[in-house]
Amino acid sequence: MNYRHAFHAGNFADLHKHAIVLAKLSALQKDSDALSVIDTHAGAGGYDLSGEMARRSGEAQAGIFRLKAATDAPAVFAPLLKAVADMNGGKPGDLYPGSPLLMARALRKTDRYAGCELRPDDVQILRQTLAPYANAQALEADGYATAGERAGKGGRTFVVIDPPFERPDDYRQIAATTRAVLTRAPDAAMAIWLPIKDLETFDSFLRSMETVTKKLLIAELRLRPLIDPMKMNGCAMVMINAPSPVEAAAIEAGDWIASRLGEKGGRSRVWNV
Ligand SMILES: C[S@@+](CC[C@H](N)C(=O)[O-])C[C@H]1O[C@@H](n2cnc3c(N)ncnc32)[C@H](O)[C@@H]1O
Repeated sequence: MNYRHAFHAGNFADLHKHAIVLAKLSALQKDSDALSVIDTHAGAGGYDLSGEMARRSGEAQAGIFRLKAATDAPAVFAPLLKAVADMNGGKPGDLYPGSPLLMARALRKTDRYAGCELRPDDVQILRQTLAPYANAQALEADGYATAGERAGKGGRTFVVIDPPFERPDDYRQIAATTRAVLTRAPDAAMAIWLPIKDLETFDSFLRSMETVTKKLLIAELRLRPLIDPMKMNGCAMVMINAPSPVEAAAIEAGDWIASRLGEKGGRSRVWNV
């Protein structure tokens, strides 16, 4: 496995994903007394954007640094910006939280979080990142299998799936995992991140998901028209059992990113299947 999220941490897609995941977590907490969060692809948990990998890609400069400098950031980004500020001790800084830290910080006493990661070096950092949070656990484990095994145990299930898409079978594995999770826990909430390069791959994934469930909320964000399929032209969050406030949050996040960080022809669309 070569993928390192440190190259991409804090980019436009992380802002979209993290703002929506936090909005969904908060909405689920209003609906359920206890949550069991399974983050199938956790990464290292936190990133130093002054490091070699982030500097080389420049993606955070076009993402979180622009959000931090914005004077018109909408409310949906407030929890993410607060987490970034806290991680940097309230000073301007280069640290950026990953999904594990963002969710661990937001847990109540009754909630649990398990973050799965396969890279031993990232698992080690993840363990350190999560150490202050008693209800959060780092697992060196396959996230797809863990989600299927743990769904339905110990509170309402919330599964976040955020693969690197290095392997062609990630799309198939997501659909199979969704089926396994919903079989064990029909009320499970799920949030699945996808890159958008070309429309055909995205559409074919959505068609495969429609054979698993008819209740999808899709937040699609295009940074630019899909002319070059070799580029990540956008991203999407595909959600199952999203409480109603999540739709408004996804619209707010997507509209701001498309208009402020996108190119001509960029746009955001949120719809239900
Ligand atoms: C996109 S990154 C995760 C970023 C993280 N969700 C965040 O938002 O901060 C994907 C991670 O999944 C890990 N990974 C790849 N396949 C995996 C699998 N089957 N189970 C668990 N982790 C996996 C990779 O090593 C990589 O660190």
